[in-house]
Amino acid sequence: MTSSGGKTVREPALAGVGASRDGTPRGRQLAKPLPAEGEGGLFTQSWFPICLSSDVGKGEVKGYGFLDGRVIVFRGDDGVARVTSAYCPHVGADLSVGNVVGNNIRCAFHHWEYGGDGACVKTGVGDPPPPRASLFKFPSQEKFGIVWAYNGYDPHYDLPDFPYPDADLEFRTLAIDALMPVDPWVLCANTPDFQHIRALHGVHFDRDPVDEVEWTDHSMMYNFSGSHKQGEEIDNRVGIFGTSLYYQHTLFNGKWFGFLSPFGLPEPGKSKAYMVVAVRKDMGTPEEAQAFIDFVVDLETQIVMEDVMVMQTIRFAPANLTKSDNALSKFFSYVRNFPRAHPSAGFIA
Ligand code: FES
Ligand SMILES: [Fe+2]
Repeated sequence: MTSSGGKTVREPALAGVGASRDGTPRGRQLAKPLPAEGEGGLFTQSWFPICLSSDVGKGEVKGYGFLDGRVIVFRGDDGVARVTSAYCPHVGADLSVGNVVGNNIRCAFHHWEYGGDGACVKTGVGDPPPPRASLFKFPSQEKFGIVWAYNGYDPHYDLPDFPYPDADLEFRTLAIDALMPVDPWVLCANTPDFQHIRALHGVHFDRDPVDEVEWTDHSMMYNFSGSHKQGEEIDNRVGIFGTSLYYQHTLFNGKWFGFLSPFGLPEPGKSKAYMVVAVRKDMGTPEEAQAFIDFVVDLETQIVMEDVMVMQTIRFAPANLTKSDNALSKFFSYVRNFPRAHPSAGFIA
């Protein structure tokens, strides 16, 4: 059994015809399966992007697919964006067509109101709210122009920072409309995949970083210097946080930029990609900073497009790895061992 995006793929015992050089049967066999998101009803416990901060203004509510269900993001008078399950625990109306009242969300149907912690604070006709009438409130935060939700109760890691204070940086955050037909962790597996960085992206490493990757239970990071296809000098720090965030900062021909690619999980087997570019405000005039952001968006879009044509068509099933895949192989263990849970299961579907 192998996992391909959100789908579990069962392969015939002897897939394909023929034999390898040592005479053993050939086929795309994976020794240890990699669980797809949603497999066994569980999802990795990561911070996932839900929407752009600018998508939900003060007093607004919007609905989004998340995990195997639906959530709302609403922003009250206090300016805080909250993420909760979408379906009203009275008789199930979708709260995305409700209204924000103060810092509460009010259901459109019978006007029950839910507070920021998800508990029902009043009904529309004065009946006391049933004690169990509550939404699931996700841990959430806004960072890099994105509203994030954590799949769980208590986040076991936080989102990373760039090496400069946010106040010193100019940011641009974009959402990519088209969904990718693979789980976010499949897209994250590009970062420890050194073969593809060389072969697909044409990057030259001054020194192979494959054995210099720093691992934690929620991240992997490495540094490398080298050159891009056209010979531009690059000095990079790149990594993955959780199973949903690509992190990078780079000196590109001596100029610093930061780049993130967060991947949302709007349904099992699908990813919604975002791009965050950061440049230093003191790099020049505001116009120069915007021009450099334009340049980085173009550069990263070209690189991402090289991955996209593969990721849109792949049946992800690692089978035969070589020594250059050491970090990729470790990443598969990281994904297998990543904490999984689904505490909102009884609320969001
Ligand atoms: S369905 Fe929401 S208040 Fe009745
Ligand atoms: Fe890539």
